[in-house]
Amino acid sequence: MSDLRPTSRRQKVLDVGCGTGIYCYEVARSNPNLDVVGIDLFDMVPGRMPQNTRIVTPIDFNLPSWPFAAREFDLIRNAGLSGSVQDWGSHIRKCYQ
Ligand SMILES: C[S@@+](CC[C@H](N)C(=O)[O-])C[C@H]1O[C@@H](n2cnc3c(N)ncnc32)[C@H](O)[C@@H]1O
Repeated sequence: MSDLRPTSRRQKVLDVGCGTGIYCYEVARSNPNLDVVGIDLFDMVPGRMPQNTRIVTPIDFNLPSWPFAAREFDLIRNAGLSGSVQDWGSHIRKCYQ
């Protein structure tokens, strides 16, 4: 995760629409210094996740807000969401917030 800038606190990654959680799993396993959160409408995680991972379901990412603090995340991934996001402008604004 060389694109994360060093900070004095633990850094956090959010995977929006995390599906099976494979990205969360790999990032958390190879970066024990990070905390990784995945959100999805459904819990599809097939097995155990690293301790620094939290999968939160059900969360509808099309709702007006997400249950996280402002600026909580250092990196937000949105992959494979074409056709699922109702309004990309609003979605990207939520990511920046
Ligand atoms: C094509 S999968 C991509 C999964 C993962 N991001 C990846 O790259 O492998 C899309 C995911 O978005 C989730 N999803 C679709 N609409 C959603 C919504 N409104 N709120 C939360 N998750 C949603 C689906 O449940 C599914 O897990």
